[in-house]
Amino acid sequence: MWKWRRLMRLSNRSLMAFIFFFSMSTTCLYFIYVAPGIVNTYFFMVQAQGIMLRDNVRTIGHMIRLYTNKNSTLNGTDYPDGSNSSEYIAQPTTYLPENFTYAQNLPCPERLPSMKGQMEVNMTEVPMEEIELRLKHMDIQFGGHWKPKDCKPRWKVAILIPFRNRHERLPILFQHLTPMLQRQRLQFAFYVIEQTGTQPFNRAMLFNVGFKEAMKDLDWDCVVFHDVDHIPENDRNYYGCGQMPRHFAAKLDKYMYILPYNEFFGGVSGLTVEQFLKINGFPNAFWGWGGEDDDLWNRVHYAGFNVTRPEGDIGKYKSIPHHHRGEVQFLGRYKLLRYSKERQHLDGLNNLQYSPEISLSNLYKNITVNLNPELALIAEY
Ligand SMILES: *[C@@H]1O[C@H](CO)[C@@H](O)[C@H](O)[C@H]1NC(C)=O
Ligand SMILES: *[C@@H]1O[C@H](CO)[C@@H](O)[C@H](O)[C@H]1NC(C)=O
Ligand SMILES: *[C@@H]1O[C@H](CO)[C@@H](O)[C@H](O)[C@H]1NC(C)=O
Ligand SMILES: *[C@@H]1O[C@H](CO)[C@@H](O)[C@H](O)[C@H]1NC(C)=O
Ligand SMILES: *[C@@H]1O[C@H](CO)[C@@H](O)[C@H](O)[C@H]1NC(C)=O
Ligand SMILES: *[C@@H]1O[C@H](CO)[C@@H](O)[C@H](O)[C@H]1NC(C)=O
Ligand SMILES: *[C@@H]1O[C@H](CO)[C@@H](O)[C@H](O)[C@H]1NC(C)=O
Repeated sequence: MWKWRRLMRLSNRSLMAFIFFFSMSTTCLYFIYVAPGIVNTYFFMVQAQGIMLRDNVRTIGHMIRLYTNKNSTLNGTDYPDGSNSSEYIAQPTTYLPENFTYAQNLPCPERLPSMKGQMEVNMTEVPMEEIELRLKHMDIQFGGHWKPKDCKPRWKVAILIPFRNRHERLPILFQHLTPMLQRQRLQFAFYVIEQTGTQPFNRAMLFNVGFKEAMKDLDWDCVVFHDVDHIPENDRNYYGCGQMPRHFAAKLDKYMYILPYNEFFGGVSGLTVEQFLKINGFPNAFWGWGGEDDDLWNRVHYAGFNVTRPEGDIGKYKSIPHHHRGEVQFLGRYKLLRYSKERQHLDGLNNLQYSPEISLSNLYKNITVNLNPELALIAEY
């Protein structure tokens, strides 16, 4: 009897230990796969960059210093402490005066009086129908195409939005982006590229599909790669392209408005068609979230480009939280990133096959594709 009880106690203890280790390991798994926000960001940074823990700690320290230091307001990528944000919002105005008159036969300027700076961002969910109604007077063609009438648009911009299961977010994006692009006098159209099927989300491959489809519509000269959950906060963040690829989403609220690392190229970026063709588009081999934007960064640099970013507050974005909810992280990215250079001309626009289903709605073109790895086979390298 006595022995039996001891045995019970022992097994109780080991059961407790088992439960303890089990919950520990599930917690770890939870953080690896689904934890939103900052934890994943650091995982992501460490893995994608291959930086040593020491460097990473330095980065965190740097971020905290920037966030608390009252002195770091002035230059470029640093974020002010916020005690007097009004002075920071007032950008040095080389923007045209209100009474500027447009001419139909001249290119639209880049710094228009209609671009006021900081925008009201309202993240409240609204039905798509309501946004369609609100934008009705704005003269947008069925399918989401618009061009200015009072001057010649400087850029013809295709906005590509990769998408799966986030129907509540599209209207929020259109609500902010459509009026902003009109104030910037850009010619634009929205392409929502939706992934079906059971494979992990492949943001990069959706961009390649969107690019190929968009180019069938019009000779776009600039392509903006836009996550559905990133809302610009400043309408002076000009969505035209330039001599160099551009990273628009330089400061995200979820990273305390600090660039998480210098090679960060996620969220919203833009390349001219020429640049995008030169780098053979995005890689197709990144299944699950993470890494594909770092690979794009590598491609851009191997092709001899540098990346530009908007200055100061202009590059600020609000992101809708729970970005990766239910999406798996791509753990193989680290290996792929080491071979960015070798893969660049094997995997991308040139090895991609797909069969899309296309439909139009009021504010965008819907390109739906079922993706799987057989659609982008790659020769051994
Ligand atoms: C801010 O910078 C000035 C000079 O650059 C320095 O004298 C001052 O101590 C700094 N203040 C803080 C809080 O770091
Ligand atoms: C900001 O940059 C300018 C030149 O780009 C430099 O002269 C100035 O000292 C910098 N200010 C601070 C606070 O770092
Ligand atoms: C903020 O800046 C404005 C304009 O530069 C100034 O008038 C105001 O006094 C400042 N406020 C604080 C709290 O420093
Ligand atoms: C436009 O406004 C500026 C001041 O903001 C003034 O100097 C200029 O003369 C005005 N131009 C015209 C054509 O009214
Ligand atoms: C945000 O949008 C919602 C829905 O359109 C509206 O009810 C709410 O008043 C807006 N909030 C602000 C601060 O404008
Ligand atoms: C890119 O930046 C590097 C370092 O700042 C510079 O050496 C190089 O010339 C730049 N490349 C181009 C094409 O501007
Ligand atoms: C796109 O079209 C498909 C049907 O082809 C539909 O199931 C899906 O809901 C549409 N997506 C969007 C975002 O409109």
